[in-house]
Amino acid sequence: MKRPHYRLTAWQNWTNDPNGLIYAFGRYHAFYQHHPYDRHWGPMHWGHATSPDLYRWTQQPIALYPDENGTCFSGSAVFDSANSSGLGDGERPLLVLMYTSHPEADADGRHYETQSLAWSQDGETFKKYAGNPVIPNNGVPDFRDPKVFWHAPSAAWVCVLAAYDRVAIYRSPNLIDWTHASDFGPGQSTIPGVWECPDLFPLELEGQTHWVLLVSIASDAAHGRGVVQYFIGDFDGHLFTRSVTTAQPRLLDQGNDLYAVQTFANTEARILLGWAANPGYAGDTPTTGFCGQLSAPRLLSLYRDANGRPALAARPVPMPPDTIATTGPATTELPATPWQLDFTPTDPAFSLELYNHAGEYLSLMQSSTRLLTLDRSHSGDMSYSPLLELPQFRRREVAPRTATPGHWQITLDGPLLEIYADDGSRVLTQLVYPSQPYTGLRLEGLTDVNLTVFHPYTIPQAADPFLFRKS
Ligand code: FRU
Repeated sequence: MKRPHYRLTAWQNWTNDPNGLIYAFGRYHAFYQHHPYDRHWGPMHWGHATSPDLYRWTQQPIALYPDENGTCFSGSAVFDSANSSGLGDGERPLLVLMYTSHPEADADGRHYETQSLAWSQDGETFKKYAGNPVIPNNGVPDFRDPKVFWHAPSAAWVCVLAAYDRVAIYRSPNLIDWTHASDFGPGQSTIPGVWECPDLFPLELEGQTHWVLLVSIASDAAHGRGVVQYFIGDFDGHLFTRSVTTAQPRLLDQGNDLYAVQTFANTEARILLGWAANPGYAGDTPTTGFCGQLSAPRLLSLYRDANGRPALAARPVPMPPDTIATTGPATTELPATPWQLDFTPTDPAFSLELYNHAGEYLSLMQSSTRLLTLDRSHSGDMSYSPLLELPQFRRREVAPRTATPGHWQITLDGPLLEIYADDGSRVLTQLVYPSQPYTGLRLEGLTDVNLTVFHPYTIPQAADPFLFRKS
């Protein structure tokens, strides 16, 4: 399987979570959990890539290497513009990374994680803070993935991090000295599993601010193995209080392959990237040279669901116009390069099928009650993991979220299929590994479908990926 073009992959070997997402020094930066020496997960480094537009990435040298505090697990980035940490020279902008140091296991096999800092004043070279760690372990082995932001109303840095079955909230005046403020959870989710990669941010709806808390949950197979749940509520700088409760957990994505998401710092819009894979079988996916990819950048917004409650929608950031090769009415043929289908169904019942000459196909259907069914059972290689024998990993069924139908967008880039239905109120991220590209498109009950085809793009490599190995 070829690499995606406009979705970030590691320069070689393994990647999982996006880390340290920030717009800084005139471009977007995405770091990523990276094992540079093997296509499987291993001692974590922070890979680094930059982009002018969130789609055309360029690899940079690896930013963070394991050290005596441990390997470098997930974390985030902020601009410390007032040099509150004192790490900068006070003249050039100061970028600070906060990440988890994952130490070796103790005698009982437990890893007591801590939080550390690194910083940069050019966006290329990164120095670790000499006083690491800045947040010691609190007694729980799974204590990780700090997401930091400046909370102006209470004039403090806030860090949310995952502490096994809850989100722990910390505050700091300077990014170095942290005080525990509160916890959200446990018992807030009916999905069992270890909480990871929290993110907390405000979004407006009808002039009112709501706070959104995202949590990735490493769950069991019955619950999808890796899912992202979101909570909507209020945040005063110290405490997150849930204001919307629903009978069913609310998932950011209804596909099988989106996990460990994070939003960008220092952007006007709230833009998210996720690890487009399932932790249950990511390492088994049939690729060579690389393993793992990030999702399309997604613009987050709030809308009112069919019951009038605020809910979270995600739509892809539009592709830059100069990446478009052709655009026009879809026919029965599809190219092997990345493409995007756009349509607004006039009749709720329709079906759409992608197929190739090897007899493999992927089918998407919507019923007259707007129940969406995505079936990848016959999409190609489905034998690489035993999890894929379970029905919930083959076929997804998603009820409508909105009272009225909306715009649909479907994209395919490499193995990554992304479906944004009804204005992004239902999103499905799904990996497919056909033995040859889907070149056929079968549509029933749909008119006015537009196909946009994109130019090929290959991610430029860093001249020396290991340039900073010794620093
Ligand atoms: C999520 C996660 C994080 C951790 C990282 C390690 O996929 O397990 O909790 O920091 O991956 O690579």
